[in-house]
Amino acid sequence: MKIIAHRGFSGKYPENTLLAFKKAVEASSDAIELDVQLTKDGTLVLFHDDTFNRLIQTDGFLLDHTWTDLEQYQIRKRLFNRTVYAPILSLESYFNWAQDRDIMTVIELKNNLRPHEGMEEKLVSLTKKFKLEHRVIFSSFQKDSVLKLKALAPLISCAYITKLRKEEDLSWIESAQIEFIHPKFTSLWPWNIAKLKKLGVRISPWTVNHPLFMWYLLHIPNLYGIITDRPDRLKKVLQRKRKT
Ligand code: G3P
Ligand code: CA
Repeated sequence: MKIIAHRGFSGKYPENTLLAFKKAVEASSDAIELDVQLTKDGTLVLFHDDTFNRLIQTDGFLLDHTWTDLEQYQIRKRLFNRTVYAPILSLESYFNWAQDRDIMTVIELKNNLRPHEGMEEKLVSLTKKFKLEHRVIFSSFQKDSVLKLKALAPLISCAYITKLRKEEDLSWIESAQIEFIHPKFTSLWPWNIAKLKKLGVRISPWTVNHPLFMWYLLHIPNLYGIITDRPDRLKKVLQRKRKT
């Protein structure tokens, strides 16, 4: 069972930054989940939101800016008594750091509201350039993106992210040989767990931060990992579980 640090150790450090990734590794994470988008000039950048106001000190849309514009900004994390800052990162810089480390990376394409033309092709090509094909899982809420990635790079694992709506047809996952599903953990009612078990895919729910929910989810079949902002808490839950 893998500890997957959601946007790095984002419960305590600025999300999707090297600081959060280093702290995730120190907290014994097996994998890092991160969000990628394309800038106006086609650079793959680690950033969760479409707009700037929550994370950096300006207004605007990420897609309207170049990498050179963005490089000057820091991502902030507001804690109850202080704010912590760390530089915004390109995927290339992240790969440079990750390639010599024994860590998996779950890469989410953040193309939910606006299309990012050519993002899948760029992602596959950068992953191959760094020879990280066997240490990444591509993931997306967009079925079309998942299918495109699988067609471009059949040997790279893919995950479909979903809130498991009642009417959702998941049969394509089996026929397209998608290896993973990442469901919102609050959708994992017994009937949905049974549905996923039948599909035979491996499961990594998100975003699980309370130890009681972590404990409950450890019992679901085909569990691959748990995606959490608090890898430190998940590690403690796993240690306690081993003693039972
Ligand atoms: O990996 C799934 C999860 O990260 C999706 O939600 O909004 O945190 O990117 P979000
Ligand atoms: Ca994400």
